[in-house]
Amino acid sequence: MKTICSHVILLIAANLSFVAGYLNIYLTISEVQRLLGVSAELYYIRNGNINNQALNFIVQIPSNINALYFTWEGLTDQPLPYAITVHTSNPEVLPPPKLNISYVGTVPKTTQTFLVSLPCSGLTEAEVDIKITINITLTNKNVTKLTFNRKKMCLLLDKSVSLIAQDSLLQLPNSASIFYIAMCCALLLMVMLILLVTLYYVKDKKCRSSGNTQPTTAATTFLAALPRNSVNASSYGSFIRMPSYSLIDERSKDLQDRIADLTVQRCRIRLSSIFLEGTFGRVYYGSYTNEDGAEETVIIKTVTDHASQVQIALLLQEGMTMYSLNHKNILSILRVSIQDHSAPFLLYPYKNTTNLKMFLQKCKVSSEGVHHTLTTQEVVEMALQIIQAMQYLHKKHLLHKDLAARNCMVDNELHVQVADNALSRDLFPSDYHCLGDNENRPVKWLAIESLLHKTFSPASDVWSFGVLVWELTTLAQQPYIEIDPFEMAAYLKDGYRLAQPINCPDELFAVMAYCWAMSAEERPTFTQLHVCLQEFYAQLTRYV
Ligand SMILES: *[C@@H]1O[C@H](CO)[C@@H](O)[C@H](O)[C@H]1NC(C)=O
Ligand SMILES: *[C@@H]1O[C@H](CO)[C@@H](O)[C@H](O)[C@H]1NC(C)=O
Ligand SMILES: *[C@@H]1O[C@H](CO)[C@@H](O)[C@H](O)[C@H]1NC(C)=O
Repeated sequence: MKTICSHVILLIAANLSFVAGYLNIYLTISEVQRLLGVSAELYYIRNGNINNQALNFIVQIPSNINALYFTWEGLTDQPLPYAITVHTSNPEVLPPPKLNISYVGTVPKTTQTFLVSLPCSGLTEAEVDIKITINITLTNKNVTKLTFNRKKMCLLLDKSVSLIAQDSLLQLPNSASIFYIAMCCALLLMVMLILLVTLYYVKDKKCRSSGNTQPTTAATTFLAALPRNSVNASSYGSFIRMPSYSLIDERSKDLQDRIADLTVQRCRIRLSSIFLEGTFGRVYYGSYTNEDGAEETVIIKTVTDHASQVQIALLLQEGMTMYSLNHKNILSILRVSIQDHSAPFLLYPYKNTTNLKMFLQKCKVSSEGVHHTLTTQEVVEMALQIIQAMQYLHKKHLLHKDLAARNCMVDNELHVQVADNALSRDLFPSDYHCLGDNENRPVKWLAIESLLHKTFSPASDVWSFGVLVWELTTLAQQPYIEIDPFEMAAYLKDGYRLAQPINCPDELFAVMAYCWAMSAEERPTFTQLHVCLQEFYAQLTRYV
Protein backbone atom coordinates (compact mmCIF):
# COMPACT_ATOMS: atom_id res chain seq x y z
CA MET A 1 0.00 0.00 0.00
CA LYS A 2 2.91 2.31 0.40
CA THR A 3 4.44 1.43 -2.92
CA ILE A 4 4.54 4.83 -4.52
CA CYS A 5 6.44 6.23 -1.61
CA SER A 6 8.84 3.34 -1.61
CA HIS A 7 9.64 3.94 -5.28
CA VAL A 8 10.79 7.38 -4.43
CA ILE A 9 12.85 6.28 -1.49
CA LEU A 10 14.30 3.55 -3.62
CA LEU A 11 15.41 6.00 -6.23
CA ILE A 12 17.01 8.31 -3.75
CA ALA A 13 18.58 5.98 -1.21
CA ALA A 14 20.21 3.30 -3.30
CA ASN A 15 21.55 0.59 -1.05
CA LEU A 16 24.69 -0.49 -2.85
CA SER A 17 26.33 -3.83 -2.31
CA PHE A 18 29.21 -5.89 -3.65
CA VAL A 19 31.05 -5.49 -6.88
CA ALA A 20 29.65 -7.46 -9.79
CA GLY A 21 32.13 -6.67 -12.53
CA TYR A 22 32.25 -3.52 -14.47
CA LEU A 23 28.95 -2.85 -16.07
CA ASN A 24 25.81 -0.73 -15.80
CA ILE A 25 22.24 -1.98 -15.97
CA TYR A 26 19.53 0.59 -15.57
CA LEU A 27 16.16 1.90 -16.64
CA THR A 28 16.24 5.20 -18.48
CA ILE A 29 14.38 8.26 -17.26
CA SER A 30 11.61 7.77 -19.80
CA GLU A 31 11.21 4.11 -18.82
CA VAL A 32 10.98 4.89 -15.11
CA GLN A 33 8.52 7.65 -15.88
CA ARG A 34 6.44 5.22 -17.91
CA LEU A 35 6.48 2.45 -15.29
CA LEU A 36 6.57 4.23 -11.97
CA GLY A 37 5.57 7.78 -12.72
CA VAL A 38 8.75 9.25 -11.29
CA SER A 39 11.27 11.22 -13.27
CA ALA A 40 14.60 9.52 -12.54
CA GLU A 41 16.95 6.87 -13.76
CA LEU A 42 16.84 3.60 -11.88
CA TYR A 43 20.19 1.84 -11.63
CA TYR A 44 20.28 -1.88 -10.91
CA ILE A 45 24.04 -1.97 -11.38
CA ARG A 46 26.14 1.17 -11.53
CA ASN A 47 29.85 0.74 -12.20
CA GLY A 48 29.50 -2.83 -11.02
CA ASN A 49 27.76 -2.00 -7.74
CA ILE A 50 24.54 -3.89 -7.34
CA ASN A 51 21.55 -1.97 -5.98
CA ASN A 52 19.85 -4.81 -4.13
CA GLN A 53 17.04 -2.63 -2.96
CA ALA A 54 16.08 -1.85 -6.54
CA LEU A 55 16.45 -5.49 -7.55
CA ASN A 56 14.27 -6.72 -4.71
CA PHE A 57 11.53 -4.33 -5.61
CA ILE A 58 8.61 -5.89 -7.47
CA VAL A 59 7.53 -3.52 -10.20
CA GLN A 60 3.84 -3.58 -11.02
CA ILE A 61 3.43 -3.17 -14.75
CA PRO A 62 0.29 -1.29 -15.85
CA SER A 63 -1.89 -3.61 -17.88
CA ASN A 64 -1.61 -1.42 -20.97
CA ILE A 65 2.19 -1.67 -21.11
CA ASN A 66 3.35 -4.54 -23.28
CA ALA A 67 7.12 -4.10 -23.34
CA LEU A 68 9.86 -3.38 -20.84
CA TYR A 69 13.10 -1.66 -21.81
CA PHE A 70 16.37 -2.32 -20.05
CA THR A 71 19.55 -0.41 -20.82
CA TRP A 72 23.02 -1.77 -20.21
CA GLU A 73 26.65 -1.36 -21.13
CA GLY A 74 29.87 -3.24 -20.38
CA LEU A 75 32.64 -1.06 -18.94
CA THR A 76 35.64 -3.37 -19.24
CA ASP A 77 37.66 -4.60 -22.18
CA GLN A 78 37.11 -8.24 -21.21
CA PRO A 79 33.94 -9.79 -22.59
CA LEU A 80 31.14 -10.24 -20.04
CA PRO A 81 29.10 -13.27 -21.10
CA TYR A 82 25.44 -13.19 -20.11
CA ALA A 83 22.50 -15.58 -20.19
CA ILE A 84 18.91 -14.37 -19.85
CA THR A 85 15.84 -16.37 -18.97
CA VAL A 86 12.31 -15.03 -18.63
CA HIS A 87 9.69 -16.94 -16.74
CA THR A 88 6.00 -16.18 -16.26
CA SER A 89 3.87 -17.73 -13.55
CA ASN A 90 0.94 -18.32 -15.86
CA PRO A 91 1.92 -18.94 -19.52
CA GLU A 92 -1.72 -19.33 -20.50
CA VAL A 93 -2.46 -15.74 -19.52
CA LEU A 94 0.93 -14.29 -20.40
CA PRO A 95 2.88 -16.38 -22.92
CA PRO A 96 6.65 -16.56 -22.35
CA PRO A 97 7.95 -13.04 -23.11
CA LYS A 98 10.36 -12.44 -26.00
CA LEU A 99 13.58 -10.43 -26.13
CA ASN A 100 14.89 -8.49 -29.08
CA ILE A 101 18.47 -9.50 -28.24
CA SER A 102 19.88 -13.00 -28.06
CA TYR A 103 19.24 -15.01 -24.89
CA VAL A 104 22.96 -15.77 -24.58
CA GLY A 105 25.80 -13.43 -25.60
CA THR A 106 28.18 -10.85 -24.24
CA VAL A 107 27.21 -7.53 -22.72
CA PRO A 108 27.75 -4.84 -25.40
CA LYS A 109 30.52 -2.32 -24.78
CA THR A 110 28.31 0.54 -25.90
CA THR A 111 25.00 1.57 -24.39
CA GLN A 112 22.27 -0.72 -25.62
CA THR A 113 18.57 -0.82 -24.87
CA PHE A 114 16.82 -4.13 -25.18
CA LEU A 115 13.21 -4.94 -25.04
CA VAL A 116 11.26 -7.65 -23.23
CA SER A 117 7.84 -7.90 -24.82
CA LEU A 118 5.04 -9.28 -22.70
CA PRO A 119 1.64 -9.05 -24.33
CA CYS A 120 -1.20 -10.81 -22.51
CA SER A 121 -3.09 -13.56 -24.27
CA GLY A 122 -6.39 -11.94 -23.29
CA LEU A 123 -7.92 -15.37 -22.67
CA THR A 124 -8.27 -15.04 -18.92
CA GLU A 125 -8.01 -12.26 -16.45
CA ALA A 126 -5.24 -12.79 -13.94
CA GLU A 127 -2.25 -11.29 -12.26
CA VAL A 128 0.95 -12.81 -13.55
CA ASP A 129 4.38 -12.82 -11.93
CA ILE A 130 7.26 -12.33 -14.33
CA LYS A 131 10.80 -13.21 -13.40
CA ILE A 132 13.64 -12.04 -15.61
CA THR A 133 16.97 -13.60 -14.69
CA ILE A 134 20.27 -12.39 -16.08
CA ASN A 135 23.40 -14.39 -15.32
CA ILE A 136 26.58 -12.50 -15.92
CA THR A 137 29.91 -14.30 -15.87
CA LEU A 138 32.56 -12.06 -14.37
CA THR A 139 36.15 -11.90 -15.35
CA ASN A 140 37.08 -14.15 -12.40
CA LYS A 141 34.54 -16.71 -13.71
CA ASN A 142 32.12 -16.05 -10.86
CA VAL A 143 28.53 -15.88 -12.04
CA THR A 144 26.34 -13.06 -10.77
CA LYS A 145 22.68 -13.86 -10.94
CA LEU A 146 20.34 -10.87 -11.16
CA THR A 147 16.62 -11.39 -10.82
CA PHE A 148 14.10 -8.76 -11.82
CA ASN A 149 10.59 -9.35 -10.54
CA ARG A 150 7.60 -7.86 -12.26
CA LYS A 151 3.87 -8.26 -11.83
CA LYS A 152 1.32 -7.62 -14.49
CA MET A 153 -2.45 -7.60 -14.45
CA CYS A 154 -3.74 -9.22 -17.61
CA LEU A 155 -7.27 -8.43 -18.66
CA LEU A 156 -9.82 -10.58 -20.33
CA LEU A 157 -10.35 -9.67 -23.96
CA ASP A 158 -11.47 -12.57 -26.14
CA LYS A 159 -13.54 -14.33 -23.55
CA SER A 160 -15.63 -11.26 -22.96
CA VAL A 161 -16.60 -11.34 -26.61
CA SER A 162 -18.01 -14.82 -26.36
CA LEU A 163 -19.74 -13.81 -23.17
CA ILE A 164 -21.46 -10.99 -24.99
CA ALA A 165 -22.36 -13.28 -27.84
CA GLN A 166 -24.04 -15.52 -25.30
CA ASP A 167 -26.08 -12.69 -23.98
CA SER A 168 -26.59 -11.59 -27.59
CA LEU A 169 -27.21 -8.02 -26.64
CA LEU A 170 -24.32 -6.26 -28.25
CA GLN A 171 -22.60 -6.99 -31.50
CA LEU A 172 -18.91 -6.50 -31.08
CA PRO A 173 -16.04 -6.19 -33.50
CA ASN A 174 -13.36 -8.89 -33.51
CA SER A 175 -10.89 -9.29 -30.70
CA ALA A 176 -8.06 -7.42 -32.40
CA SER A 177 -10.10 -4.29 -32.77
CA ILE A 178 -11.35 -4.70 -29.23
CA PHE A 179 -7.77 -4.61 -28.15
CA TYR A 180 -7.25 -1.35 -30.03
CA ILE A 181 -10.48 0.04 -28.71
CA ALA A 182 -9.35 -0.86 -25.21
CA MET A 183 -6.02 0.88 -25.80
CA CYS A 184 -7.75 3.97 -27.16
CA CYS A 185 -10.05 3.96 -24.22
CA ALA A 186 -7.17 3.73 -21.80
CA LEU A 187 -5.81 6.86 -23.47
CA LEU A 188 -9.20 8.48 -23.38
CA LEU A 189 -9.39 7.69 -19.70
CA MET A 190 -6.17 9.57 -19.14
CA VAL A 191 -7.54 12.53 -21.05
CA MET A 192 -10.73 12.23 -19.07
CA LEU A 193 -8.87 12.31 -15.79
CA ILE A 194 -6.83 15.30 -16.81
CA LEU A 195 -10.02 17.05 -17.82
CA LEU A 196 -11.64 16.04 -14.59
CA VAL A 197 -8.91 17.59 -12.54
CA THR A 198 -8.68 20.68 -14.73
CA LEU A 199 -12.40 21.13 -14.70
CA TYR A 200 -12.53 20.68 -11.02
CA TYR A 201 -9.78 23.19 -10.56
CA VAL A 202 -11.53 25.77 -12.68
CA LYS A 203 -14.84 25.19 -10.93
CA ASP A 204 -13.23 25.13 -7.56
CA LYS A 205 -11.58 28.47 -8.16
CA LYS A 206 -14.92 29.95 -9.04
CA CYS A 207 -16.39 28.39 -5.98
CA ARG A 208 -13.87 29.56 -3.45
CA SER A 209 -13.81 33.07 -2.21
CA SER A 210 -11.31 34.93 -4.34
CA GLY A 211 -8.95 35.92 -1.53
CA ASN A 212 -8.23 32.33 -0.67
CA THR A 213 -6.10 30.97 -3.48
CA GLN A 214 -3.80 28.07 -2.87
CA PRO A 215 -1.50 26.18 -5.19
CA THR A 216 -3.02 23.06 -6.70
CA THR A 217 -0.40 20.50 -5.93
CA ALA A 218 -2.76 17.94 -4.47
CA ALA A 219 -4.91 17.68 -7.56
CA THR A 220 -1.90 17.03 -9.73
CA THR A 221 -0.50 14.48 -7.34
CA PHE A 222 -3.69 12.48 -7.64
CA LEU A 223 -3.13 12.46 -11.32
CA ALA A 224 0.41 11.27 -10.94
CA ALA A 225 -0.73 8.56 -8.62
CA LEU A 226 -3.73 7.48 -10.58
CA PRO A 227 -2.85 6.00 -13.93
CA ARG A 228 0.28 4.42 -12.58
CA ASN A 229 0.54 0.81 -11.57
CA SER A 230 1.72 0.49 -8.00
CA VAL A 231 -1.68 0.31 -6.45
CA ASN A 232 -3.60 -2.89 -6.06
CA ALA A 233 -3.38 -4.53 -9.44
CA SER A 234 -6.81 -5.98 -9.59
CA SER A 235 -8.50 -2.73 -8.92
CA TYR A 236 -6.33 -1.18 -11.55
CA GLY A 237 -7.69 -3.78 -13.89
CA SER A 238 -11.31 -3.02 -13.35
CA PHE A 239 -10.53 0.66 -13.35
CA ILE A 240 -9.06 0.60 -16.80
CA ARG A 241 -11.86 -1.58 -18.09
CA MET A 242 -14.56 0.75 -17.03
CA PRO A 243 -14.26 3.40 -19.70
CA SER A 244 -13.43 0.95 -22.46
CA TYR A 245 -16.72 -0.76 -22.04
CA SER A 246 -18.57 2.44 -21.66
CA LEU A 247 -17.20 3.39 -25.05
CA ILE A 248 -18.26 0.17 -26.72
CA ASP A 249 -21.58 0.85 -25.18
CA GLU A 250 -21.68 4.39 -26.44
CA ARG A 251 -22.26 5.41 -22.88
CA SER A 252 -19.47 7.93 -23.08
CA LYS A 253 -20.82 10.17 -25.77
CA ASP A 254 -20.38 13.77 -24.72
CA LEU A 255 -17.49 12.70 -22.57
CA GLN A 256 -16.74 16.21 -21.46
CA ASP A 257 -20.34 16.84 -20.51
CA ARG A 258 -20.35 13.70 -18.45
CA ILE A 259 -17.20 14.67 -16.61
CA ALA A 260 -18.61 18.12 -16.03
CA ASP A 261 -21.71 16.41 -14.70
CA LEU A 262 -19.74 14.26 -12.31
CA THR A 263 -17.40 16.88 -10.88
CA VAL A 264 -18.83 19.22 -8.32
CA GLN A 265 -17.42 21.93 -6.12
CA ARG A 266 -16.77 21.08 -2.53
CA CYS A 267 -18.92 23.96 -1.34
CA ARG A 268 -22.01 22.17 -2.66
CA ILE A 269 -21.43 19.28 -0.28
CA ARG A 270 -22.23 19.23 3.40
CA LEU A 271 -21.20 16.37 5.68
CA SER A 272 -23.76 15.67 8.38
CA SER A 273 -22.95 12.55 10.35
CA ILE A 274 -20.53 9.68 10.18
CA PHE A 275 -21.93 6.39 8.98
CA LEU A 276 -18.86 4.14 8.96
CA GLU A 277 -15.34 4.73 10.16
CA GLY A 278 -12.13 2.82 9.57
CA THR A 279 -8.52 3.66 10.30
CA PHE A 280 -8.36 6.11 7.42
CA GLY A 281 -11.62 5.55 5.52
CA ARG A 282 -14.74 7.50 6.37
CA VAL A 283 -18.28 7.15 5.10
CA TYR A 284 -20.58 10.05 5.89
CA TYR A 285 -24.19 10.88 5.47
CA GLY A 286 -24.43 14.27 3.92
CA SER A 287 -26.19 16.44 1.48
CA TYR A 288 -25.39 17.77 -1.91
CA THR A 289 -26.91 20.86 -3.45
CA ASN A 290 -27.40 20.06 -7.10
CA GLU A 291 -27.37 22.41 -10.08
CA ASP A 292 -31.03 23.24 -9.62
CA GLY A 293 -30.36 24.30 -6.07
CA ALA A 294 -32.21 21.30 -4.65
CA GLU A 295 -30.65 19.36 -1.82
CA GLU A 296 -30.15 15.61 -2.20
CA THR A 297 -29.18 13.29 0.61
CA VAL A 298 -26.02 11.40 -0.23
CA ILE A 299 -23.51 8.95 1.17
CA ILE A 300 -19.97 10.27 0.93
CA LYS A 301 -16.91 8.07 0.85
CA THR A 302 -13.65 9.77 1.66
CA VAL A 303 -10.43 9.32 3.61
CA THR A 304 -8.83 11.28 6.43
CA ASP A 305 -6.01 13.72 5.86
CA HIS A 306 -3.60 11.05 7.11
CA ALA A 307 -4.34 8.78 4.15
CA SER A 308 -1.48 8.26 1.72
CA GLN A 309 -1.60 9.16 -1.96
CA VAL A 310 -1.91 5.46 -2.72
CA GLN A 311 -4.94 5.10 -0.50
CA ILE A 312 -6.48 8.12 -2.18
CA ALA A 313 -5.73 6.77 -5.64
CA LEU A 314 -7.25 3.44 -4.63
CA LEU A 315 -10.38 5.13 -3.35
CA LEU A 316 -10.82 6.92 -6.68
CA GLN A 317 -10.08 3.83 -8.72
CA GLU A 318 -12.38 1.52 -6.83
CA GLY A 319 -15.03 4.17 -6.42
CA MET A 320 -15.20 4.78 -10.16
CA THR A 321 -15.81 1.13 -11.10
CA MET A 322 -19.58 1.60 -11.16
CA TYR A 323 -19.33 4.89 -13.02
CA SER A 324 -22.28 5.61 -15.31
CA LEU A 325 -23.92 2.24 -14.71
CA ASN A 326 -27.64 2.52 -14.56
CA HIS A 327 -29.50 -0.33 -12.90
CA LYS A 328 -31.92 -0.32 -10.01
CA ASN A 329 -29.83 -2.90 -8.17
CA ILE A 330 -26.49 -1.16 -8.61
CA LEU A 331 -25.27 1.75 -6.54
CA SER A 332 -23.36 3.86 -9.03
CA ILE A 333 -21.36 6.90 -8.22
CA LEU A 334 -23.24 10.17 -8.38
CA ARG A 335 -20.61 12.88 -8.10
CA VAL A 336 -16.95 13.37 -7.31
CA SER A 337 -15.31 16.34 -5.69
CA ILE A 338 -11.56 16.70 -5.69
CA GLN A 339 -10.18 19.57 -3.69
CA ASP A 340 -6.55 20.51 -3.24
CA HIS A 341 -4.94 19.62 0.05
CA SER A 342 -7.68 17.26 1.08
CA ALA A 343 -9.01 13.90 0.09
CA PRO A 344 -11.58 13.51 -2.68
CA PHE A 345 -15.24 13.06 -1.85
CA LEU A 346 -17.15 10.34 -3.67
CA LEU A 347 -20.89 10.86 -3.59
CA TYR A 348 -23.48 8.11 -3.87
CA PRO A 349 -27.24 8.50 -3.86
CA TYR A 350 -28.82 7.74 -0.49
CA LYS A 351 -32.29 6.29 -0.26
CA ASN A 352 -32.59 5.23 3.37
CA THR A 353 -30.17 2.44 2.68
CA THR A 354 -27.74 0.87 5.04
CA ASN A 355 -24.85 -1.49 4.63
CA LEU A 356 -26.17 -5.03 4.03
CA LYS A 357 -23.66 -6.72 6.32
CA MET A 358 -24.48 -4.37 9.18
CA PHE A 359 -28.18 -4.73 8.46
CA LEU A 360 -27.92 -8.52 8.71
CA GLN A 361 -25.93 -8.32 11.93
CA LYS A 362 -28.58 -6.07 13.44
CA CYS A 363 -31.27 -8.60 12.52
CA LYS A 364 -29.33 -11.17 14.50
CA VAL A 365 -28.83 -9.08 17.60
CA SER A 366 -32.46 -8.35 18.33
CA SER A 367 -34.49 -10.71 16.24
CA GLU A 368 -37.32 -10.77 18.79
CA GLY A 369 -37.53 -7.02 19.07
CA VAL A 370 -37.84 -4.07 16.76
CA HIS A 371 -35.57 -5.39 14.07
CA HIS A 372 -36.48 -7.45 11.14
CA THR A 373 -36.17 -11.23 10.98
CA LEU A 374 -35.53 -12.50 7.50
CA THR A 375 -37.72 -15.22 6.06
CA THR A 376 -36.49 -17.62 3.38
CA GLN A 377 -38.71 -15.83 0.94
CA GLU A 378 -37.03 -12.52 1.72
CA VAL A 379 -33.58 -14.06 1.40
CA VAL A 380 -34.50 -15.36 -2.03
CA GLU A 381 -35.93 -11.99 -3.05
CA MET A 382 -32.67 -10.32 -2.10
CA ALA A 383 -30.60 -12.97 -3.85
CA LEU A 384 -32.64 -12.46 -7.02
CA GLN A 385 -31.94 -8.73 -6.98
CA ILE A 386 -28.23 -9.36 -6.57
CA ILE A 387 -28.36 -11.79 -9.49
CA GLN A 388 -29.95 -9.13 -11.67
CA ALA A 389 -27.25 -6.65 -10.71
CA MET A 390 -24.55 -9.18 -11.54
CA GLN A 391 -26.13 -10.08 -14.87
CA TYR A 392 -26.14 -6.41 -15.77
CA LEU A 393 -22.55 -5.95 -14.60
CA HIS A 394 -21.34 -8.92 -16.63
CA LYS A 395 -23.25 -7.70 -19.65
CA LYS A 396 -21.23 -4.51 -19.31
CA HIS A 397 -18.11 -6.66 -19.12
CA LEU A 398 -17.28 -5.75 -15.60
CA LEU A 399 -16.33 -8.34 -13.04
CA HIS A 400 -17.07 -7.39 -9.47
CA LYS A 401 -14.29 -9.46 -7.87
CA ASP A 402 -15.40 -8.57 -4.36
CA LEU A 403 -19.07 -9.48 -4.16
CA ALA A 404 -20.03 -9.77 -0.48
CA ALA A 405 -22.66 -8.45 1.92
CA ARG A 406 -20.29 -5.66 3.01
CA ASN A 407 -20.33 -4.34 -0.57
CA CYS A 408 -24.11 -4.18 -0.86
CA MET A 409 -26.64 -1.69 0.41
CA VAL A 410 -30.19 -2.42 1.48
CA ASP A 411 -33.21 -0.37 2.50
CA ASN A 412 -36.14 -1.18 4.79
CA GLU A 413 -38.15 -2.59 1.88
CA LEU A 414 -35.25 -5.01 1.28
CA HIS A 415 -34.35 -3.38 -1.98
CA VAL A 416 -30.71 -4.38 -2.50
CA GLN A 417 -28.01 -2.54 -4.42
CA VAL A 418 -24.62 -3.95 -5.27
CA ALA A 419 -21.91 -1.35 -4.62
CA ASP A 420 -18.22 -1.00 -5.35
CA ASN A 421 -15.65 -2.09 -2.77
CA ALA A 422 -13.98 1.27 -2.19
CA LEU A 423 -12.77 1.50 1.46
CA SER A 424 -14.11 -1.96 2.36
CA ARG A 425 -10.63 -3.25 3.26
CA ASP A 426 -10.38 -0.49 5.81
CA LEU A 427 -13.97 -0.60 7.07
CA PHE A 428 -14.24 -4.40 7.33
CA PRO A 429 -10.66 -5.41 8.09
CA SER A 430 -11.58 -8.86 9.39
CA ASP A 431 -13.01 -9.80 5.98
CA TYR A 432 -9.66 -9.31 4.23
CA HIS A 433 -6.39 -11.10 4.69
CA CYS A 434 -2.87 -10.79 3.40
CA LEU A 435 -1.41 -14.13 2.41
CA GLY A 436 2.16 -12.95 2.74
CA ASP A 437 2.14 -11.02 -0.54
CA ASN A 438 1.25 -7.60 0.80
CA GLU A 439 -2.08 -7.73 -0.97
CA ASN A 440 -5.18 -7.59 1.15
CA ARG A 441 -7.72 -9.94 -0.38
CA PRO A 442 -11.22 -11.14 0.57
CA VAL A 443 -9.76 -14.64 0.97
CA LYS A 444 -12.89 -16.32 2.28
CA TRP A 445 -15.08 -15.03 -0.53
CA LEU A 446 -12.67 -15.90 -3.31
CA ALA A 447 -13.16 -18.74 -5.75
CA ILE A 448 -10.46 -21.39 -5.56
CA GLU A 449 -8.83 -20.20 -8.83
CA SER A 450 -8.84 -16.56 -7.68
CA LEU A 451 -7.22 -17.63 -4.45
CA LEU A 452 -4.58 -19.78 -6.12
CA HIS A 453 -3.88 -18.02 -9.40
CA LYS A 454 -5.56 -14.63 -9.01
CA THR A 455 -7.73 -15.39 -12.02
CA PHE A 456 -11.18 -13.86 -12.19
CA SER A 457 -14.11 -14.63 -14.42
CA PRO A 458 -17.90 -14.43 -14.29
CA ALA A 459 -17.71 -17.87 -12.63
CA SER A 460 -15.55 -16.52 -9.80
CA ASP A 461 -18.20 -13.87 -9.14
CA VAL A 462 -20.71 -16.75 -9.00
CA TRP A 463 -18.62 -18.37 -6.25
CA SER A 464 -18.65 -15.17 -4.21
CA PHE A 465 -22.39 -14.91 -4.80
CA GLY A 466 -22.74 -18.33 -3.15
CA VAL A 467 -20.88 -17.03 -0.09
CA LEU A 468 -23.08 -13.93 -0.10
CA VAL A 469 -26.25 -16.06 -0.03
CA TRP A 470 -24.68 -17.97 2.85
CA GLU A 471 -24.18 -14.62 4.60
CA LEU A 472 -27.86 -13.78 4.00
CA THR A 473 -29.00 -17.07 5.55
CA THR A 474 -26.66 -16.84 8.54
CA LEU A 475 -27.29 -13.14 9.17
CA ALA A 476 -23.72 -12.26 8.24
CA GLN A 477 -21.70 -14.76 10.16
CA GLN A 478 -18.03 -14.87 9.21
CA PRO A 479 -17.55 -17.64 6.65
CA TYR A 480 -15.07 -20.40 7.58
CA ILE A 481 -14.54 -18.69 10.93
CA GLU A 482 -12.46 -21.59 12.23
CA ILE A 483 -10.17 -21.80 9.20
CA ASP A 484 -6.86 -19.98 9.07
CA PRO A 485 -6.75 -17.82 5.91
CA PHE A 486 -3.46 -19.45 4.95
CA GLU A 487 -5.17 -22.85 5.06
CA MET A 488 -8.10 -21.82 2.88
CA ALA A 489 -6.72 -23.02 -0.45
CA ALA A 490 -5.84 -26.45 0.94
CA TYR A 491 -9.17 -26.67 2.73
CA LEU A 492 -11.11 -25.92 -0.45
CA LYS A 493 -8.91 -28.24 -2.50
CA ASP A 494 -9.71 -31.05 -0.08
CA GLY A 495 -13.34 -30.51 -0.99
CA TYR A 496 -14.53 -28.79 2.19
CA ARG A 497 -17.10 -26.03 1.85
CA LEU A 498 -19.33 -23.90 4.07
CA ALA A 499 -21.86 -25.95 6.03
CA GLN A 500 -25.62 -25.72 5.57
CA PRO A 501 -26.89 -23.00 7.90
CA ILE A 502 -29.60 -23.81 10.41
CA ASN A 503 -33.06 -23.12 8.97
CA CYS A 504 -31.68 -22.91 5.45
CA PRO A 505 -33.88 -25.05 3.17
CA ASP A 506 -32.12 -27.82 1.23
CA GLU A 507 -33.12 -26.26 -2.09
CA LEU A 508 -31.41 -22.99 -1.23
CA PHE A 509 -28.31 -24.68 0.15
CA ALA A 510 -28.06 -26.78 -3.01
CA VAL A 511 -27.90 -23.54 -5.02
CA MET A 512 -25.04 -22.22 -2.88
CA ALA A 513 -23.14 -25.46 -2.97
CA TYR A 514 -23.49 -25.52 -6.75
CA CYS A 515 -21.72 -22.11 -6.87
CA TRP A 516 -18.70 -23.62 -5.12
CA ALA A 517 -17.94 -26.29 -7.70
CA MET A 518 -14.19 -26.78 -7.97
CA SER A 519 -14.13 -26.21 -11.71
CA ALA A 520 -15.45 -22.89 -13.00
CA GLU A 521 -17.27 -24.61 -15.88
CA GLU A 522 -19.36 -26.65 -13.48
CA ARG A 523 -20.69 -23.61 -11.67
CA PRO A 524 -24.07 -22.23 -12.71
CA THR A 525 -24.22 -18.97 -14.63
CA PHE A 526 -26.15 -16.05 -13.19
CA THR A 527 -28.79 -16.72 -15.84
CA GLN A 528 -29.20 -20.30 -14.58
CA LEU A 529 -29.21 -19.10 -10.98
CA HIS A 530 -31.93 -16.64 -11.84
CA VAL A 531 -34.17 -19.34 -13.34
CA CYS A 532 -33.44 -21.69 -10.47
CA LEU A 533 -34.14 -19.24 -7.67
CA GLN A 534 -37.19 -17.86 -9.39
CA GLU A 535 -38.67 -21.37 -9.48
CA PHE A 536 -37.86 -21.82 -5.83
CA TYR A 537 -39.44 -18.45 -5.09
CA ALA A 538 -42.61 -19.47 -6.93
CA GLN A 539 -42.76 -22.65 -4.85
CA LEU A 540 -42.37 -20.65 -1.64
CA THR A 541 -45.09 -18.17 -2.49
CA ARG A 542 -47.53 -20.70 -3.94
CA TYR A 543 -48.94 -21.64 -0.55
CA VAL A 544 -48.94 -18.21 0.98
C1 LIG B 1 21.95 -18.76 -13.92
O1 LIG B 1 22.66 -19.24 -12.80
C2 LIG B 1 21.94 -20.10 -11.96
C3 LIG B 1 22.84 -20.50 -10.80
O2 LIG B 1 23.53 -19.42 -10.34
C4 LIG B 1 21.48 -21.32 -12.74
O3 LIG B 1 20.67 -22.14 -11.91
C5 LIG B 1 20.67 -20.87 -13.93
O4 LIG B 1 20.33 -21.99 -14.72
C6 LIG B 1 21.48 -19.90 -14.76
N1 LIG B 1 20.64 -19.40 -15.84
C7 LIG B 1 21.07 -19.33 -17.08
C8 LIG B 1 20.12 -18.75 -18.08
O5 LIG B 1 22.15 -19.70 -17.41
C1 LIG C 1 15.47 -3.56 -29.21
O1 LIG C 1 14.39 -2.65 -29.14
C2 LIG C 1 14.77 -1.36 -28.67
C3 LIG C 1 13.52 -0.56 -28.52
O2 LIG C 1 12.67 -0.69 -29.62
C4 LIG C 1 15.72 -0.70 -29.65
O3 LIG C 1 16.09 0.57 -29.17
C5 LIG C 1 16.94 -1.59 -29.76
O4 LIG C 1 17.80 -1.05 -30.72
C6 LIG C 1 16.54 -3.00 -30.13
N1 LIG C 1 17.72 -3.82 -30.03
C7 LIG C 1 18.09 -4.66 -30.97
C8 LIG C 1 19.32 -5.43 -30.73
O5 LIG C 1 17.42 -4.79 -31.98
C1 LIG D 1 34.27 -15.80 -6.57
O1 LIG D 1 33.77 -16.99 -5.96
C2 LIG D 1 34.62 -17.54 -4.97
C3 LIG D 1 34.02 -18.84 -4.52
O2 LIG D 1 32.63 -18.83 -4.61
C4 LIG D 1 34.78 -16.53 -3.83
O3 LIG D 1 35.63 -17.05 -2.83
C5 LIG D 1 35.34 -15.24 -4.36
O4 LIG D 1 35.42 -14.27 -3.34
C6 LIG D 1 34.49 -14.74 -5.50
N1 LIG D 1 35.11 -13.57 -6.06
C7 LIG D 1 34.48 -12.41 -6.16
C8 LIG D 1 35.25 -11.29 -6.74
O5 LIG D 1 33.30 -12.25 -5.78
